[in-house]
Amino acid sequence: ASEQRQKQVTLSDVLEKACDAYKKHLKSSHKAVDYLKGRGLSGDIAKQFGLGYAPEGWRSLASVFPNYDDPLLAESGLVIASVDEGSGEEKRYDRFRDRVMFPIRNVKGECIGFGGRVLGEGTPKYLNSPETPVFHKGRELYGLFEARHALREHGYVLVTEGYMDVVALAQLGFPNAVATLGTACTPDHVQKLFRFTDSVVFSFDGDAAGRRAARKALDGALPYASDVRSVKFLFLPPEHDPDSYIRAFGKDAFARYVSEATPLSRFMIEAARDGCDLNTAEGRAHLASNARPLWSQLPEGALKRQLLGEIAELVQLNSRELSEVWNGPAKAGK
Ligand code: UTP
Ligand code: MN
Ligand code: MN
Ligand code: MN
Ligand code: MN
Repeated sequence: ASEQRQKQVTLSDVLEKACDAYKKHLKSSHKAVDYLKGRGLSGDIAKQFGLGYAPEGWRSLASVFPNYDDPLLAESGLVIASVDEGSGEEKRYDRFRDRVMFPIRNVKGECIGFGGRVLGEGTPKYLNSPETPVFHKGRELYGLFEARHALREHGYVLVTEGYMDVVALAQLGFPNAVATLGTACTPDHVQKLFRFTDSVVFSFDGDAAGRRAARKALDGALPYASDVRSVKFLFLPPEHDPDSYIRAFGKDAFARYVSEATPLSRFMIEAARDGCDLNTAEGRAHLASNARPLWSQLPEGALKRQLLGEIAELVQLNSRELSEVWNGPAKAGK
């Protein structure tokens, strides 16, 4: 009877099998290995992150999955099944072709998707697995599984934008880095990170997109910025991301940026103050108006109380007056 009980093949099994195939392909692809070497990656770090290579063919995965039409392959996002509008015929082909592959794991270590980078120039630069029953970009973080022990040892997590940032930081002395998956940092991301550490340092690219990403991360982090947690923001020079910066200037220079990162309290006030002329009553009123939706997301506590005081001072009111501006006059007897 036990022989009859067939093991249920899951999406994760399919993805794991593909992951192994991509790793094998990397060993025999000179151009993919050369690309990674050209980016400064060591063989050890590539192995540690299970990096691979998806070959050029349209149906390379057929050699690993004899039943290429298995609906699980399409469901996993590895195979694209598209219906030709003219003939009504269904065509199936590999999503990832001629790309360096970054396996994405959940906290249990199961492969749930991939990011694939073109070797050099080309669009899209990164192709990611689509949303599937096991892969939700707004919840998962690249590198969290690999970083899980380092987070405890280092006492904080570095949150970056990119796959390459995570791998380069790990190679050069910061194994406690993760990345969002081409999406904004969500409240779900922040909540998940605080299960592993009580200190989060966001390190976005120094460009305009990185600034916007930091602003979104602030929104995601505010509800979790309790009095016993720390949230900071690190801003690299505009032309750099963590990967390029640490490769150009080294571990100690990057560590200085970490130690000088902007606390959430200051970043929040800077964000509210942006574009306001504090020499005019209008500008100060504008700041108060900008600050309200940010401040009100903070959990109750000493940090929230202090920031009320700081904002009040900037807009030349006292805390009670600012509170009245925001919430209406305090009820009698209160
Ligand atoms: P970046 O453009 O900063 O990429 O996008 P990067 O990681 O620094 O790339 P390299 O160094 O040139 O290899 C940051 C992240 O945004 C997502 C990826 O997750 C990437 O790591 N992204 C970017 C995509 O999903 N698709 C893209 O086409 C580009
Ligand atoms: Mn594997
Ligand atoms: Mn960027
Ligand atoms: Mn980069
Ligand atoms: Mn980047």
